[in-house]
Amino acid sequence: MTPTSTTAKTSQSKQNPKKTSYKIAVIAGDGTGPEVVKEGLKVLNQASKKHNFKLDFVYYDLGGERFKKTGEILPESVLAELKEADSIFLGAIGHPDVKPGILEKGLLLKLRFELDQYINLRPVKLYPNVETPLANKTPEDIDFIVVRENTEGLYAGAGGFLRRGTQHEVAIQESINTRMGVERCIRYAFELTRRRNRKKTLTLCGKTNVLIYADVKTDYAHVDATCMWMVKNPEWFDVIVTDNMFGDIITDLAAMIQGGMGIAAGGNLNPQGVSMFEPIGGSAPKYTGKNIINPLAAIGAAGMMLEEIGQREAAEAVEHAISQALASGKIKSLAAGKMGLSTTEVGDLVASLI
Ligand code: IPM
Ligand code: MN
Repeated sequence: MTPTSTTAKTSQSKQNPKKTSYKIAVIAGDGTGPEVVKEGLKVLNQASKKHNFKLDFVYYDLGGERFKKTGEILPESVLAELKEADSIFLGAIGHPDVKPGILEKGLLLKLRFELDQYINLRPVKLYPNVETPLANKTPEDIDFIVVRENTEGLYAGAGGFLRRGTQHEVAIQESINTRMGVERCIRYAFELTRRRNRKKTLTLCGKTNVLIYADVKTDYAHVDATCMWMVKNPEWFDVIVTDNMFGDIITDLAAMIQGGMGIAAGGNLNPQGVSMFEPIGGSAPKYTGKNIINPLAAIGAAGMMLEEIGQREAAEAVEHAISQALASGKIKSLAAGKMGLSTTEVGDLVASLI
């Protein structure tokens, strides 16, 4: 099969160049979510002012607190409203008083599935002055992006029990990957590799190759080998495309080599619909309310959102401001409580550089 760009939909297709006003749904969520979201909004406001577009924020109090008070996780009416937004900005989901899995499944995964956000995009970039645990690796060596399939695989939740509750109980969980689901993800990854125009190399991690784009070099690595190379020779990677569970696992490793969860941003994309952007770390409850959590991942996610809604220059300005903020040396470490600056000061610094 030789696909052409006319058959492949890209994120451009839904972007209206004349549009200058956007409705952004904000789900600050649990733990440190609200603190990092506040800094993300600060930077978004600054970017929209400088680049002449308008962002209307609509706030949703979804998360652990609402669940504890009302038993609601994601009411149908709220879901319907979110489907009408231009984009969603999410802080973090996960509450110490709520059994693990309930909010993650009922809110985060439900949104990804209901909005058909079939791409989970996770850039891995070592910024200047950021410490990586990999010896002798520089920003030039660590600059790739993981395209994680986001609606299938083991996350499909297919499976069940036989003889549940007995001594002979069997539990089955199936990984479902459809032709449609795999193809749209790999197509997206090819087009992204083209747009990045860096090494023009797409590495398939852990599945069999199904598509060819003449100008993009393809490569294949097993998931275990991908982990090994990511530590030993991260400079080999440009774009990696992989399934949902492998993508979940390798992007935690990838986050560490770029300096940790404080800087790791991600987007859940529906290139034809509503996307959602989030820092990929959790709600870090132990740091809540202390003004010491690193907001850079949330700010980076906000920047990715600007790119997706069609405000590319503003997106580049945010990316540049993050890089400048780090290059300035004012941020001592990316770890919570060790930044040398507070959460709000880091937000102020980035906003001042827009
Ligand atoms: C992530 C998270 C989620 C996932 C959890 C919270 C369900 O780890 O966004 O990577 O597994 O996708
Ligand atoms: Mn994860």
